[in-house]
Amino acid sequence: MKQTTHQFLEDTGATVPVICGPMYPGSNPELIAAVSDAGGFGVVQPVSMTALYGHDFREGLQLIKKLTDKPFGVNFTIFGGANQKYHEQMQKWMEISIEEGVKFFLTSLGKPTEIVKIAHQNGIKVYHDVPNKKVALAMRDLGVDGINCINWRGGGQTGTQSAEKFIEELHDIEIPLICAGGVGNADDLQKILDMGYAGAQIGTRFLATHECKVSNAYKQAIVDAEEKDIVWTNKIAGNNSSMIRTDDIMKGGLRTGPIITYMLKHDKLKKYARMYLMSKGLKKYNKAAFDDSVKYWQAGKGVGNINSILSAADVVHAFKNVKF
Ligand SMILES: Cc1cc2nc3c(=O)[nH]c(=O)nc-3n(C[C@H](O)[C@H](O)[C@H](O)COP(=O)(O)O)c2cc1C
Repeated sequence: MKQTTHQFLEDTGATVPVICGPMYPGSNPELIAAVSDAGGFGVVQPVSMTALYGHDFREGLQLIKKLTDKPFGVNFTIFGGANQKYHEQMQKWMEISIEEGVKFFLTSLGKPTEIVKIAHQNGIKVYHDVPNKKVALAMRDLGVDGINCINWRGGGQTGTQSAEKFIEELHDIEIPLICAGGVGNADDLQKILDMGYAGAQIGTRFLATHECKVSNAYKQAIVDAEEKDIVWTNKIAGNNSSMIRTDDIMKGGLRTGPIITYMLKHDKLKKYARMYLMSKGLKKYNKAAFDDSVKYWQAGKGVGNINSILSAADVVHAFKNVKF
């Protein structure tokens, strides 16, 4: 086994080098527990768990612990100072996670300086989502334990570069590199491990599972879709989100109109444009999570290798066939 894969498995407590990435929608506690229980590693998306699936944060963590005795992680998105209330909420969630014995934090956006300090004081590992080499090296210097390389094949808010480019630029970094984007089956996982990644962060494949609480129409759309059916739109979050092409998503075009586009190009206005887009986008995701007729379906380019709705355990077990 590669040293970095060994390190990744040690950091997470998983036996298969696969994270079920945080998802809004999609990260319900039952899915997270099922992935961890099967030997993968589930990560909580706190807003999904509370606002979407209606759990009190601590009770949600306790539910996962009731369903499995295996470890799981929690994701913290650091929205660069946009909203003081959110930051206070995130701090509270972090305190509760520590009290409930969580040993892995996955951070995204912003600088996790404070989080790394608190985490390491409590024996918690921190992996951070990065879009490119510059941020990866800055995060390594800041002391994170692993790097999630968000590539342009992933579902949700997608990256801007390929999995190959990340490896080319970061192959000599000494901490685990996780490939986030485009892993739909065991062959895909084998390919990225052979490229040099320590493991994969996977979202889309886990949406099409029995335990995931998105609508059946959404799951079936993932099974039916091919890579060519995935489109990018900046209308949900300001940067590209990866979605299945449907009438709902194509209505009105995939790009923002002139005013929002102008705002997105100017640093002082960007934050407001993104807040506006995201508040509208989240409402659409909320509906799409539960209503078969609302077709706002995020998914990555790995869809072509996802051919059936399975249990989360079957998905993880299939990844066990990979040589790592
Ligand atoms: C429906 C959906 C929602 C997502 N929501 C989030 C999120 O709220 N926060 C986050 O950090 N990543 C989010 N992601 C990204 C995943 O955690 C993961 O990195 C990505 O799905 C990996 O690519 P894949 O979909 O090709 O497997 C989301 C992905 C999907 C498919």
